[in-house]
Amino acid sequence: METVLTNDPVEAAEFIKSGGIVAFPTETVYGLGANVFDVQAVAKIFEAKRRPADNPLIAHISEIGQIATLATEVTENAEKFILSFFPGPLTIVLPKSDAVPYIATAGLDTIGVRMPGFELAQRFIAACGVPVVAPSANLSGRPSPTTWQAVAEDLDGRIDCILQGDPTGIGLESTVVDCTGELPLLLRQGAVSLIQLQAVVPETRSYEPSTSEQPKSPGLKHKHYSPTAKVVVLDHKFEISTLEHPAAFIGLNEKGERFQITRICGSTEEYAHSVFEFFRECDRRGIKTIYCETVDETGIGAALMDRLRRAAQR
Ligand code: TXA
Ligand code: MG
Repeated sequence: METVLTNDPVEAAEFIKSGGIVAFPTETVYGLGANVFDVQAVAKIFEAKRRPADNPLIAHISEIGQIATLATEVTENAEKFILSFFPGPLTIVLPKSDAVPYIATAGLDTIGVRMPGFELAQRFIAACGVPVVAPSANLSGRPSPTTWQAVAEDLDGRIDCILQGDPTGIGLESTVVDCTGELPLLLRQGAVSLIQLQAVVPETRSYEPSTSEQPKSPGLKHKHYSPTAKVVVLDHKFEISTLEHPAAFIGLNEKGERFQITRICGSTEEYAHSVFEFFRECDRRGIKTIYCETVDETGIGAALMDRLRRAAQR
């Protein structure tokens, strides 16, 4: 299959309308989209990404009114989060409507819904005329793509089209909050922090999966965000006793060690924005070990530490 590159959201939307799959930029990471109501198109996403069938997708909307086609109910807590954070980097989980096929939700009776704040994403989704389900546009397990070139690296020849935009601003995936129960549950950390959610609904809690229970967010159990290189998360003491070369470093503070690639970020936001592309660059350059400096788990730092720890799991 030839993958068409375009920067025209209307041209990209034509592929969705004819049952194809299209990668598009958002403020978090690039997504790989299909018409949520088209079972065959949704199946193509799982095939192209080699995504396990038990990992549900997020439906992206361009207008609040579209939620009524996806969910049977907008719970009171969900309503509050929508008012405060839509459009933006927050996904809310709601009870799904019958119109949403189970392939999109991996068999769950719930659906994640997000309204991206990124203008090109909004224009693309609006031109599609339907909500667009989209996981991150990477091969399953790889770091999420923050540039269209990273999408092409993983998916060229496997998808119909890439809508080319600027590198994504935030660089980490959206916060996911389950609003189907009495108390909202934070399932995945992102740019909207637990404290910000609690400012709107104080009872919001972080979900701690127990080993016996079926995980609430199936995606959490899969291998994630991993470069081919080994990822090592450093503690605050900065001790790297034996460097495994060729090695790379990313963090906020200079280490005084000799690495093949060093990336010092000016802020935690910049670190979050750069980390997935840095992982990819390290792989391209044959790096064996990537040392990542620990940051404070406030604001985006919590989401960043979550991704670093997962990337370090083997
Ligand atoms: O920022 C983002 O969320 C990006 C952009 C493209 O919007 N998308 C993204 O999708 O990161 P993905 O598929 O890589 O991650 C979706 C996460 C997974 O952890 C999945 O388990 C969870 O959301 N999720 C989706 N639907 C769910 C549901 N109904 N219940 C619980 N968790 C759900
Ligand atoms: Mg993903």
